[in-house]
Amino acid sequence: MSFEHITESLTGEESRRERYSRLLEFFPAFFAPETDDLSSVCNVIALLHEVMGNLWTGVYFVRDVDQPERGLFLGFFQGSPACDTIAYGRGVCGTALASGETQMVEDVTRFPGHIACSSASRSEIVVPFRDERGRVLGVLDLDSSVPGAYVDEDRLLLETLLERLSPALWSIYRRYMGLGEG
Ligand code: SME
Repeated sequence: MSFEHITESLTGEESRRERYSRLLEFFPAFFAPETDDLSSVCNVIALLHEVMGNLWTGVYFVRDVDQPERGLFLGFFQGSPACDTIAYGRGVCGTALASGETQMVEDVTRFPGHIACSSASRSEIVVPFRDERGRVLGVLDLDSSVPGAYVDEDRLLLETLLERLSPALWSIYRRYMGLGEG
């Protein structure tokens, strides 16, 4: 299915909420029964990137869902090549993994241990996502070249978006890692 009309229908004047709702509106089309979960998630990441005007948008997965201290590896993303491995508790992503909580960074230069994948990055939001048993499966990372680009509303909207996306992320992860249902 072609999705050109989605971005073409945006004027650039939309509020955050309108942009996220537009994205959610297209979920049924992205997740049409004949579509593979991997394709659906990649399209959501691409649209999120475009619609929000991010510098970088992507996911990191845990190496082991039962041992999060083994850290994160890079998954699918839009933007420049990024660090492939992030240790537990390191940087904004590793902190989100260790705390299990969304990290919103207004100014990355003030975040101790921030891992700079791009010198153009000024602000960042990292939201953990979970499997059906509540274990942290990975994090969604958004970077912006604008300081303070992400606010509380982004956190709420991204957390809602991830609730919808998590089953597909879990299914992709299970297949990739060769895990069973549990
Ligand atoms: N800035 C992140 C690293 C990932 S990149 O931004 C894509 C961090 O501090 O964890």
